[in-house]
Amino acid sequence: MGTIETTVVNGLELANELRDEMAQQISEIVAAGGRAPCLAVVLVGDDPASRSYIKGKQRACGRIGMDSREHLLPADTSQTNLLDLIKDLNADDGVDGILVQLPLPDAIDPDAVAEAIDPAKDVDALHPTTAGRLLRGNAELISCTPLGVMAVLEKCGVEIEGARAVVIGRSNIVGKPVSILLQQANATVTLCHSRTKDLAAVCREADILVAATGRPRMVKADWIKPGAAVMDVGVTEVDGKLVGDVDFDAAQGIAKYITPSRRGIGPMTITMLLRNTLVAYRSRPSGRARTAS
Ligand code: GUN
Repeated sequence: MGTIETTVVNGLELANELRDEMAQQISEIVAAGGRAPCLAVVLVGDDPASRSYIKGKQRACGRIGMDSREHLLPADTSQTNLLDLIKDLNADDGVDGILVQLPLPDAIDPDAVAEAIDPAKDVDALHPTTAGRLLRGNAELISCTPLGVMAVLEKCGVEIEGARAVVIGRSNIVGKPVSILLQQANATVTLCHSRTKDLAAVCREADILVAATGRPRMVKADWIKPGAAVMDVGVTEVDGKLVGDVDFDAAQGIAKYITPSRRGIGPMTITMLLRNTLVAYRSRPSGRARTAS
């Protein structure tokens, strides 16, 4: 056991604060005669975990007064049919955000799907244009989990400027974008991956450690610098229990902040999806006209 008092971050509490603010903004839009923002959620196949995720996203929309539409397509849907649906949603003025739940069946190319989504409605920030804007530092829509990580760090009062930040995992949806956001906030960032040599030693230098690998409990106690802020993005089911990428119990007394695998970053990801949908709504002509003050 170390000597540091570890704060377990309550991501749900922060998520609820931010959702209350958005609910207020949407109720003002609607009271002024505007339509509510609308998120379209597309699921191909009937993977139970994906179904449960999209239900959670739609429930979160409903709770803040946002509309959502669900498009459930059979597992054998062709790529052409999915791209046709996306074209329709792009053209539909009543839809502000489009989310295609991942993973997709093997027969569908996720890059082709990402490229089909209108960048103005790209609330998952997967389109190359959206990713390019993030690189250039002028993106309005930014991947949800990375935004959630940054909001948690800010809420905890973690100083990012000048900090050494280490990100484990280089996915397009978490590792790469969060490393860019940390760098833009003036951290010195190291992006680690499966070929990184002496990963433990690199992690031990981190004032801010972001773990996004999906490998349960891979980050051990002696990988963590005493006093570090540890953002655990991974959630894997092990023996019926949700487990993060960090050995949560072992990090107690070493990390200053740690996010738990339940009520940690997860609720913040959904909150940032709502945020992106509201941003997309306001940026589109149909939303701008109604919300201009
Ligand atoms: N599947 C797991 N996480 C995500 C996510 O953030 N977005 C999408 N579209 N699918 C996911």
